[in-house]
This record gives sequence, C-alpha cells and structure tokens, in this order.
Amino acid sequence: MRQVIVAGNWKMNASKDMAGGLISGILSGMSGVKSKIIACVPFPYLSQVEELTKGSQISIGAQNLNVNSSGAFTGEVSAEMIKDFGAGYVIIGHSERRSLYNETNDIVAEKVEAALNSGLTPIFCVGETLSDREAGNTEAVVEKQVMAVLDRTGAEVFKKIIIAYEPVWAIGTGVTATPEQAQETHRYIRSILSRYDEGAAQITPILYGGSMNPGNAKELISCADIDGGLIGGASLEAESFLNICKAG
Ligand code: 13P
Repeated sequence: MRQVIVAGNWKMNASKDMAGGLISGILSGMSGVKSKIIACVPFPYLSQVEELTKGSQISIGAQNLNVNSSGAFTGEVSAEMIKDFGAGYVIIGHSERRSLYNETNDIVAEKVEAALNSGLTPIFCVGETLSDREAGNTEAVVEKQVMAVLDRTGAEVFKKIIIAYEPVWAIGTGVTATPEQAQETHRYIRSILSRYDEGAAQITPILYGGSMNPGNAKELISCADIDGGLIGGASLEAESFLNICKAG
C-alpha cells in the first residue's frame, strides 16, 4: 500500500509574511492528516520554512536545481544548497520549466539523475499538452518523457522517485482531468515501469497535478494508481491545502 503524498508547489508565490502565515496555518490544522506533506517553496524561503517546520510532519522541497554541485554558475542553485536547508525533495521537469525555460527531456533526465546522486528525492513531472491529447498522443508523449529518465538512470531507481502526472491543459486552468482520464494515464505510466522493474512499478508514487482542489481531491486520490497530488493554486491557502491533505 503506497502512502498518500500531498505536495504543494508554491511556484513563484511568497513573501516572508505569506510563508509564515501559510506554514503556521497548515501546522495548526494538521491533526488527523495521515498523508505525507511536502511544501515546495521558492529558494529564498527555504531557510524560513526550515525553521518553521522543524520537528513537524511537513517536509520541504525546492522547485528546480542546477546539476553542478558548485562553481561559476551565476544565479543557479545546487542540490547541495537545497539540502543545506533541510529539504529532501525537488520538483524536476515541471511543464512551466519545460515550456518557459526550454527544459528538454534530456535536461530533465540529467536533473533527475543529479537530484538522485545528491540524495534528494525528485518529484519528476510529466504531462501532455491539449494538442497532444486531442491528437491522441497522450501516452506517446508521457512515455517519451518517462523513458528519457529511465534510459539514463535505469528502472530500479524509480523506487526513489516520485512521479507527478500533470496534464498541461489542467494546470492553473480550473479544468481538472476526470478521475477516469487521470487514472488511465497513471496506470499507463505504471505499466511503463512494470516492463522494466515490477518492484519499482509497485512502489513509485504517482501524484496527479492540475487544478486539484478540496472538491475533487478525494475522487482523484481514491483511484487505484493515483497516490496523491501536486497542488499549485490550492496550496497557497492553508485551509484548502489542508482539506486536500485530509482527502488522502
Ligand atoms: P494548479 O493546481 O494551480 O493547477 O497547478 C498545478 C501544478 O502545476 C502543480 O505543480
């Protein structure tokens, strides 16, 4: 039985006041939450969130990394730096990074490998665009994204990876994949892993992301191959995030 994981992706949203209020709001409503909770915060707030979450049930994640461990890479942040602030997770290959910052499948694979090598758990994102889906290419696109990582790292290490299936057309749009659509793709992703390593296929958590909210979380998370959520907008408000956490 895989544990339900609910991860908040704050994206580029925070201030010291907002981060403090949001984390303390979440902490004050945690009783009864059985899901694993991860807050993926912008780099400048890692330190503050580390302090606020010490000894709590909330784990910390970042949203990107540079594959090098240190050196002349102005403006970049390494896995070692992320770990220095108590973070154990890092989102890799989010569709916004793929589309806005030209992160190809190869770059994403390299970043997943760098995260694993440094001991961070990658939250590795895949997902098709609306035109991919309309052309009937959802499985092919997602398979290519998964295989780029798998070819580089092998299947065994997927035991240490969290996958997030985020259909691009559902991100920030208010249009959620139906539980059937999401489950179908989640099952397909698991079947890709099964071809190479059945143990990894059974263990790897596959989260759904894309307009998940307190109203649709329970139905999505109750699907056989949906192990939780990667939450954008609804993770920025303590009550809605907690209500999603409680759906798991
Ligand atoms: P929304 O929940 O705002 O649709 O964002 C999903 C997402 O991109 C999480 O990584």
